[in-house]
Amino acid sequence: MRIDIITLFPEMFDGPFKHSILRRAQEKGLLEIHLVQLRDYATDRHRTVDDYPYGGGAGMVLMPEPLANCLDSLKAQRSYDEIVYLTPDGERLTQALCNRLSLCQNLILLCGHYKGIDERIREHYVTKEISIGDYVLSGGELAAAVLVDCVARLIPGVLNDEESALFDSFQDNLLAPPVYTRPENFRGWKVPEVLLSGNHKAIEAWRLQQSHQRTRQRRPDLLPPE
Ligand code: ADE
Repeated sequence: MRIDIITLFPEMFDGPFKHSILRRAQEKGLLEIHLVQLRDYATDRHRTVDDYPYGGGAGMVLMPEPLANCLDSLKAQRSYDEIVYLTPDGERLTQALCNRLSLCQNLILLCGHYKGIDERIREHYVTKEISIGDYVLSGGELAAAVLVDCVARLIPGVLNDEESALFDSFQDNLLAPPVYTRPENFRGWKVPEVLLSGNHKAIEAWRLQQSHQRTRQRRPDLLPPE
């Protein structure tokens, strides 16, 4: 998968993609991330990318021209499955949406700043608007990093068998069960007996029961109505 991230702050991505699973995905050639500096597509000598909102009000708005120039230039080079704008008023990012996005070949992620981007770019270029939760970030960069992380780990071949995403929380609309490792007895706090039994059927049944119990207690909204 190729992901082009349009941003005014490419340095914000210096950390998140250089470690662990995302790093390995890139090394294996399964993921290619390109950071695109929006300012390079400004048309005046001050490289202006934002302006005051028509009608007044606080904050600046990203101007349509640099955005359109940047998007035109990318679209002329390849076709994109989705042009995603990260915004708090978008569709909420869920595991189901991550699963769908992980099947894409080419994605553009557009990071807004200030008061957002000119509405005409949303109407004429953006194909999907995504929010990572009901809170307002100071820009789309952190949201884009979250999206890249949870989508990239689902690309076939990125995770090995041991890391498999099949049993992640949310994968079946259930939260994951508790996990334990050595020692068996830590300060008198014991690992549940069944996990030491070697009885794989019983362990599987216990995990499923724990998943249901956790989901009922913590996220009943994930369960189908009774
Ligand atoms: N930009 C600002 N806040 C955001 C959010 N919650 N999700 C996605 N993009 C954003």
